[in-house]
Amino acid sequence: MKISFAEPDHPRSGAVVVGVWEEGALTASARRLDEATSGAINRALGAAARFSGKKDEFLPIIAPANLSVSRILLAGLGKLDSIDARSLQHLGGKLFANLNGAGEKEATFAIEVGEGAPISQPQAAAELAFGAQLRSYRFDKYKTKQKPEQKPSLANLTIATADADAAQSAYQPLEKTAAAVFFTRDLVAEPPNVIYPETLAAQAEGLAKFGVRVEILDEQKMRELGMNALLAVGQGSARPPRVVTMEWHGAKSAGASKSKPLAFVGKGVTFDTGGISIKPAAGMADMKWDMAGSAVVIGLMRLLAARKARVNAVGVVGLVENMPSGTAQRPGDIVSSMSGQTIEVLNTDAEGRLVLADALWYCQDRYKPQLIIDLATLTGAVIVALGHHRAGLFSNNDELADHLIDAGKAVDEQIWRMPLADSYDREIDSDAADVKNIGGGRAGGSIIGAQFLQRFVDDVPWAHLDIAGTAWSSKDAPTVPKGATAFGVRLLDRLVSQYYEQE
Ligand code: BES
Ligand code: MN
Ligand code: ZN
Repeated sequence: MKISFAEPDHPRSGAVVVGVWEEGALTASARRLDEATSGAINRALGAAARFSGKKDEFLPIIAPANLSVSRILLAGLGKLDSIDARSLQHLGGKLFANLNGAGEKEATFAIEVGEGAPISQPQAAAELAFGAQLRSYRFDKYKTKQKPEQKPSLANLTIATADADAAQSAYQPLEKTAAAVFFTRDLVAEPPNVIYPETLAAQAEGLAKFGVRVEILDEQKMRELGMNALLAVGQGSARPPRVVTMEWHGAKSAGASKSKPLAFVGKGVTFDTGGISIKPAAGMADMKWDMAGSAVVIGLMRLLAARKARVNAVGVVGLVENMPSGTAQRPGDIVSSMSGQTIEVLNTDAEGRLVLADALWYCQDRYKPQLIIDLATLTGAVIVALGHHRAGLFSNNDELADHLIDAGKAVDEQIWRMPLADSYDREIDSDAADVKNIGGGRAGGSIIGAQFLQRFVDDVPWAHLDIAGTAWSSKDAPTVPKGATAFGVRLLDRLVSQYYEQE
């Protein structure tokens, strides 16, 4: 979809959206259109019993008199003081869905927030555009037989706003965010015969064009480093594993090249059959998105580089396919991780933590980061605990945890802190090795997973986001169509810009 910003003018074609405040007060463009149509808007407001201008109420007026536009869509704006970036993004997304669903090809949003709103008009215009853009995402490259009515129709969106230039500049960083989110969603949505360790590594390598320094570790290198936990997960697959490191050097101040990076580590299991502890057939295809954590890290690194974030950051992703075969690891195997700790593998389906054990250790050992945040579709248990509305947050550092929660609220990627404690940690003590990869039962499964990871981080501030419930959605949300969500990209970008970037 092409998005442009223009000074307000009489729209001549397509759909035009104007705002109506709660209790029916018209915005300036609504008033102008009401006059141009000899009162069509006020007549519609009088006739529509259920439209009162509350947030997210919509009222279409098809083929209004005196104008060549296809429809006027009245959009409820709610109350002035409830307008913010998030509400405008939601509105933009819902308007996109409404008009695209109606088959409109072209639309103009002429929505003023007016004097006294908590957000400036140019910024409001940009946020509307951003919401519409985020919602317009599609993954239909493998659909060869779409009927015209199944294809997206809305191709041109104009945001009519005073000071269109300022709105255009406000939109620039948001456009970069949307591009990184789309890139991430694509990686997650691609099927597992297309995205596997080598091809996902190749996608990460493409970040070089943004100025990211990318390095790919192959099996031999991993073996030299002693990454036997990660290698064990991949050993049943015909596809060799990879570890990718991505460095962004954006810190500007004197001595910055030495300033410790922020580190992001992602689980990249490109397909998780469970291995010998094989999963049931029903729903197994979902496990193509078991690499979402790594995709978010790759997408985030792209975004930080694309917007030239004034910070040093590093991304490390562990990419493997978890398959059952004659060479696969067995329940009962004991592997020696890069940290030196031995792991008794009692369930080969608890593989993400084995991958992360080595990726986390390698990351802190090599980069000495100021903090580490890992993302992983780690446990079904986090979905039992939080459903699909919150990701699980685990951290050894209250300040980092609070920053993450704040950033999540700001971008509408919500997370919920869960506990870590010695009593849980006791559950993964092994009789035969230093640690085992599952606890005694199903209780507290996402916490057990987090405790396991914590054994592979020293006292560096660390947070683990279990995104098993939020990486993929089966329902449309205002700015996230169903499918791959890229949950975490916006959150972590926000965390960086709000708390860690230099002036
Ligand atoms: N990738 C899964 C977790 C998962 C489940 C993600 C459902 C998204 C939706 C992970 O590798 C896994 O299999 N975890 C096991 C751990 C158990 C064996 C301790 C689980 O959650 O059942
Ligand atoms: Mn698994
Ligand atoms: Zn998994």
